[in-house]
Amino acid sequence: MKKIKTSKKSETIMTEIVCPNDTNPMGILQGGKLVQWMDIASAICAQNHAEHICVTASIDSVKFKTPAKVGDIITIKAKMTRSFNSSMEIFVQAWAKKILSQKAYLINEAYFTFVAIDDNAKPTSVPEIKPLSEVEKKEYANALKRKNDRIKKSK
Ligand SMILES: CC(C)(COP(=O)(O)OP(=O)(O)OC[C@H]1O[C@@H](n2cnc3c(N)ncnc32)[C@H](O)[C@@H]1OP(=O)(O)O)[C@@H](O)C(=O)NCCC(=O)NCCS
Repeated sequence: MKKIKTSKKSETIMTEIVCPNDTNPMGILQGGKLVQWMDIASAICAQNHAEHICVTASIDSVKFKTPAKVGDIITIKAKMTRSFNSSMEIFVQAWAKKILSQKAYLINEAYFTFVAIDDNAKPTSVPEIKPLSEVEKKEYANALKRKNDRIKKSK
């Protein structure tokens, strides 16, 4: 029988500070750097849930809503919406906070899909997710539709 876990157990919060090396010549955080941090936070979330090594299978449309600037504090939250057989969908949100005003604003959100792999790098099954709150139940239900859409698009 499969293990059942809540998404709270693997929820991952990661913070970074935007350094000059992470930015373009205008001091704006590079998109690829932000996606890398989001990928790391979601990989930690997936691996803690799966108790296996996990690889990124896909990232749904990534939208850069507002720029983050050098010196901003970036907070990334990765939370699992649902697990299937070997794959897991993780909702990742990123905020930037200005140090002087202490104001934070959402800069990015995306769904990442990770697949747990065994010692032979083959997909292996993962524990189920038990959604608790109304928001978690809604995300859980919608995750199946998003998974089916991804499969259709990848064909
Ligand atoms: C992801 C990967 C392990 C899937 O292996 P595969 O043999 O094609 O797997 P299958 O077709 O049997 O599918 C396994 C699961 O992956 C999911 N999956 C496969 N491709 C996917 C994609 N592009 N997007 C989302 N999910 C995907 C399937 O839906 C399935 O989920 P389920 O078991 O929960 O139903 C394999 O394609 C791979 O290793 N890709 C490279 C990963 C990588 O290098 N990532 C970057 C570095 S971490």
